[in-house]
Amino acid sequence: MTTNRFWRLDSRPEGDDFASALSLVSEDLAPLADGEIRVKGEYLSMDAGTRMWMNSREDGYQPPLPLGSKMAGQALGRISESRDDRFPEGSLIRVFGQWADYSTVRPDDAWAVLVDDSIDDPRQHFGVLGLNGWTALYGVKDILGIKEGETLVVSAAAGATGSLACQIGRNLGAKVIGIAGGPEKCRHVVENLGADSCIDYKNENVAEALSRIEGGINAYFENVGGAILDAVLQNMALHGRIAVCGMIANYADEHGALGPRNYDQVLMRRLKIEGFLLPDVPERGPEYYETLLNWYKEGRIDVPFDITTGLENTLEAYSRMMTGKNTGKVLVELKS
Ligand SMILES: NC(=O)c1ccc[n+]([C@@H]2O[C@H](COP(=O)([O-])OP(=O)(O)OC[C@H]3O[C@@H](n4cnc5c(N)ncnc54)[C@H](OP(=O)(O)O)[C@@H]3O)[C@@H](O)[C@H]2O)c1
Repeated sequence: MTTNRFWRLDSRPEGDDFASALSLVSEDLAPLADGEIRVKGEYLSMDAGTRMWMNSREDGYQPPLPLGSKMAGQALGRISESRDDRFPEGSLIRVFGQWADYSTVRPDDAWAVLVDDSIDDPRQHFGVLGLNGWTALYGVKDILGIKEGETLVVSAAAGATGSLACQIGRNLGAKVIGIAGGPEKCRHVVENLGADSCIDYKNENVAEALSRIEGGINAYFENVGGAILDAVLQNMALHGRIAVCGMIANYADEHGALGPRNYDQVLMRRLKIEGFLLPDVPERGPEYYETLLNWYKEGRIDVPFDITTGLENTLEAYSRMMTGKNTGKVLVELKS
């Protein structure tokens, strides 16, 4: 009998106190049912959006995880057992599985993707070539429709999705301005991600810094919400566009946050705002993958990894991301 350890959601976390709400539990793995596969995880992806699944809010884009469930999240690893002929044992695969040694899923319910084993760094299936990369491309190219020479502002610019959005904007010919927390991150955003400049929201007046953009902001890739959104709204160009990718500043709030103070600028500046969610467009995956792979091979896009080792340390990795200690993509490396 194989033992599996998994993180169980016991209660709804208060703020960033994840240790009081989740516990590491062991079980004996049951035999697979017909149609299931089992993935021995090599890496777990820490994704900010999963914070919403821990809450009890019913009006999110996904229902809350019931208490007592295995914590859900993306896993990359090899198929250790399969009762689905499309997914042979031994293949490298990315799934929406569990924070666990082994993820047991039905492939069609778990956005299971057999991934290219020949990539120089398989972690990129959670980086440039993963869902953060696809999301950034969807947002910058398709939702914002960025054009050469336009000014693109990206918040959480040193995080996984934001850092990819910055590079995609640059690759598509935009002038990119990042917003990130701290001088180190801002240096990274300019020196390594090709942004023209970066605003350190922890030490600068964001609205004032944005007001210096000549012609205003044409396009905003929104990852954060809260005060940063307000600062952006009052500095948008006439007919500017905002792609709402995420609102991490609000995720811990069980009741949702109050709307932006400067919402009237949507009218004054005739803005277009669109929320978007990658799982709405699974059919675009192959196209996004190809574009990102080509840029990756040409050395025109990359992302650093923030690695924590051991399933038992997953909550530390998660907290690093939720409290902004990360630069780039946060992963948990599972020891074999
Ligand atoms: N729509 C979609 O399909 C989709 C898909 C993937 C991700 N997302 C969204 O993309 C955003 C980034 O997610 P990610 O997984 O890539 O995480 P990430 O950006 O790697 O990490 C989160 C970052 O958010 C920043 N942050 C945290 N709290 C903040 C606050 N109160 N105010 C301002 N910044 C804050 C931190 O950077 P600083 O140090 O700069 O504060 C932190 O590094 C999230 O909003 C997520 O929901 C959306």
